[in-house]
Amino acid sequence: MSELEKPRILKIHVLRFDPHNPNDFPHMETFEVEEADGMTLYIVLGEIREHLDNSLKFDFVCRAGICGSCAMLVNGRPTLACRTLTKKLDEDITLAPLPLFELIGDLSINSGAWMQGLNKRLETWIHDKEQELNINKLEERMEPELADEIYELDRCIECGCCVAGCGTIQMKPDFVGAVGLNKIARYHLDPRDKRTDEEYYELIGDENGVFGCMTLLGCEDVCPKSLPLQSKIAYLRRMMLRTGLKG
Ligand code: SF4
Ligand code: F3S
Ligand code: FES
Repeated sequence: MSELEKPRILKIHVLRFDPHNPNDFPHMETFEVEEADGMTLYIVLGEIREHLDNSLKFDFVCRAGICGSCAMLVNGRPTLACRTLTKKLDEDITLAPLPLFELIGDLSINSGAWMQGLNKRLETWIHDKEQELNINKLEERMEPELADEIYELDRCIECGCCVAGCGTIQMKPDFVGAVGLNKIARYHLDPRDKRTDEEYYELIGDENGVFGCMTLLGCEDVCPKSLPLQSKIAYLRRMMLRTGLKG
């Protein structure tokens, strides 16, 4: 913004609701905030809470696109508030909580509980019985290219954007979503995980797993970490078909 230009006045329309207050109901409230250079939606929300309404609920931890806690719908699209610059948006900005997750209040959701349930259900940790019996067993060597491929998938920050952007989960709440399939692809690639293809088939070889995905592609579009979700879902589908045909 040049010195001569007047800053824009942003109109922030926020969907507000306290599900714990029986007298409350979902409604929109509008706040006006003067735009500043380099302003993100996280800064906007901080301004509102500090100067206009200290009861506004929203989440953030890292402010750097790492913790995943500030995900919300911005003009209807799931994204991270802390990585969204206001200058990329019109003056009118609509904010709403991510759907599907338990609502704590206003823009704050409990995606952590959902992700914890998913991680337990898919057992997202290395399974190696030999290692469990012998803690002195040396970790296997891994080619750097494979380590890089696994690291790429490990960049998921469990923000929930892909869940909110997936039409299939709206219809089938038990579908593990792209986040779940990405995690399975990550462990299946890892040579330290000794689960067999048949064991993976038990986990995701059905309509709530890889065969539930209708290739709607919203997940990859909205993933703030640009994870290769589509190619990994295709990889799992091929693996599952091979395993299913064997069984
Ligand atoms: Fe977020 Fe992407 Fe992980 Fe989905 S896969 S939870 S959109 S980082
Ligand atoms: Fe949903 Fe992504 Fe599949 S949006 S249907 S998980 S391709
Ligand atoms: Fe951590 Fe936005 S505050 S990702």
